[in-house]
Amino acid sequence: MKLDRLLAHHRSMGRNAAKRAIAAGRVSLNGQRSLDGHAQTDRFCTVCLDEEIVQQGQRALYLMMHKPVGLLSATKDAKHPTVLDAITDPDKESLHLAGRLDRSTSGLLLLTNDGRWSKQLMAADFKVPKVYRVELDRDPAADAVEAFARGFHFHTENITTLPARLELLAPRLARVTLHEGRYHQIKRMFHRVGCRVTALHRQQVGQLCLPQDLHPGQWRPMTPDETALALLGSEAPIGN
Ligand code: URA
Repeated sequence: MKLDRLLAHHRSMGRNAAKRAIAAGRVSLNGQRSLDGHAQTDRFCTVCLDEEIVQQGQRALYLMMHKPVGLLSATKDAKHPTVLDAITDPDKESLHLAGRLDRSTSGLLLLTNDGRWSKQLMAADFKVPKVYRVELDRDPAADAVEAFARGFHFHTENITTLPARLELLAPRLARVTLHEGRYHQIKRMFHRVGCRVTALHRQQVGQLCLPQDLHPGQWRPMTPDETALALLGSEAPIGN
């Protein structure tokens, strides 16, 4: 919402009166005097008229978690412990998940109460890489790397997966880079090339890597640099 509109709404004044108050330098936005009635605000902004608080900004939360195997990627569940149960922040009830992992998957999981940021992350899904380490019960078929790059048709959803990068690191050990997040996607892809995933771990979202010192079950706030890194795409899209 624009600043003049927010002021008019909260102070039950006309829009013109709000514009005049702003032009007179009586309004501050996040502690700085603002003369721009068109400045964009959201629920995280603190707005004052003279010395009086018109809107107290909410605390924006951006958390990263090393999700352990066994926790459900949900905020509430009647049967299973969820990732939110592991978080102790006093404002945790305002959080939602920016992407999910299966209960049996571990690794980097992001939570926020900023819908604009998570929407950006989802909107950029096709270019934001997600990197997984995968343990397998056997080696995949010889043409697996090409098959991942070509994409698989999933009949249930009637979609073809985007080109994915498969790197075979060692016997029964692989790294996969996806640019989307379909239901059980990696498990289903490996099933198509003749093997079963025995362990799955997300190492990276965008250009943000799971920090080595964040142990399974631990979480911490992200720095502003880290929230930007999570949104960054890779240099070269797969298939080029
Ligand atoms: N693919 C899967 O199969 N599971 C995940 O948790 C993530 C990607």
